Amino acid sequence: MALYYATAVGGLERIVRCEIEERLPGAFVDETLSAAEWGRTFFRYEGPPTEVLTLRSVENVFAAAGTFDGIPPGETGPPAICACLAACNLDEAIAVHAAIHGPRPEPSFRCTSKRVGVQSYGSLEIMAAAGAGVQHRYGWRVDLEGHDYDIHADVEEERLTVGLRLTPETLRRRGRVVHVAASLNPTLGHAMCVLSDPQPGEVFVDPTCGAGTVLLERAELGRARLIGGDLFVRPLEAARRNLAENAVEAHLLRWDARRLPLAAESVDKLCANLPWGRRAGSHLVNKHLYPPLVREIGRILRVGGLAVLLSLEKRMLTERLSRHGWLRVTDSFAVSVGGLKPALFVVRKWRGQERPEGYE
Ligand SMILES: C[S@@+](CC[C@H](N)C(=O)[O-])C[C@H]1O[C@@H](n2cnc3c(N)ncnc32)[C@H](O)[C@@H]1O
Repeated sequence: MALYYATAVGGLERIVRCEIEERLPGAFVDETLSAAEWGRTFFRYEGPPTEVLTLRSVENVFAAAGTFDGIPPGETGPPAICACLAACNLDEAIAVHAAIHGPRPEPSFRCTSKRVGVQSYGSLEIMAAAGAGVQHRYGWRVDLEGHDYDIHADVEEERLTVGLRLTPETLRRRGRVVHVAASLNPTLGHAMCVLSDPQPGEVFVDPTCGAGTVLLERAELGRARLIGGDLFVRPLEAARRNLAENAVEAHLLRWDARRLPLAAESVDKLCANLPWGRRAGSHLVNKHLYPPLVREIGRILRVGGLAVLLSLEKRMLTERLSRHGWLRVTDSFAVSVGGLKPALFVVRKWRGQERPEGYE
């Protein structure tokens, strides 16, 4: 059974695990290997390798080639990495790659690296050492641009993980043709939509839709009446183009999310990447935005409806939510995005004693 690993936004591992086991029949997550690393999920799967490219909550999928512990953090680290790669048998990973992309009789390759922890060497030295190891073993030609194989040699603390990238391009860039300043990583948008428990035909709203990433991701998960809006013209134009390019139908409106033109209790699901107060808005602006926006969420959601909210303003958001007795945070995820640590909140609306069936 082939061993793969998927990399994703740190903090989404629970969602990635569920997707792997639901989408790939017979696949199971290797808990021991996965536990070691944040953002990397190892799984075994014996179905067609092309199927692993259908995952939506991950950024890249790799054929795992080996993990090596005890990599020294000092100057003997790079020679040790070179020796590991020279000893690393890539044949199984290459067979998986060939099943997706076809055989490569005289392959070229490059080595790529991510480094986490305190080492006296950097990613460039790791790449050079790993590349030398691969060349020693296989004699392949190095080609940084047009390579056949992209071999990742990632060092996290004292562990080296080697994998062959299977995803032709990172799934982080799928779907959109136009971006705005604080455009959401689509894999995170997918996770938000999954957390909203999508149901066919439901009314789904993104009140701060920007370039429309969340709406695009929701459209992938089945039929829904999609409604999105933004305060500004430019993001709305971007959303229009992105939706049109992907043949996704949605009702787009220019609005102020503090006063939404939507009837009370008319919305089943709401997903929003709120302004974090960094690239979009500021903390001061958010102080005036979040209170009325949270009130509007409470008004337009039907009882039993769900909101999934992403923000860096964790304290402000949870404090505002706690003021509305009918909005309850039922789950939350600390995620890691571009060095920042926002959180995803799953919020359910119920009113007084009228709690939806199945909820305590
Ligand atoms: C974090 S961005 C959302 C990015 C979007 N998810 C995407 O992928 O492009 C926040 C968005 O909220 C919008 N916004 C800020 N204040 C707003 C308000 N009062 N009403 C509606 N939208 C607002 C901004 O214009 C921005 O596009």
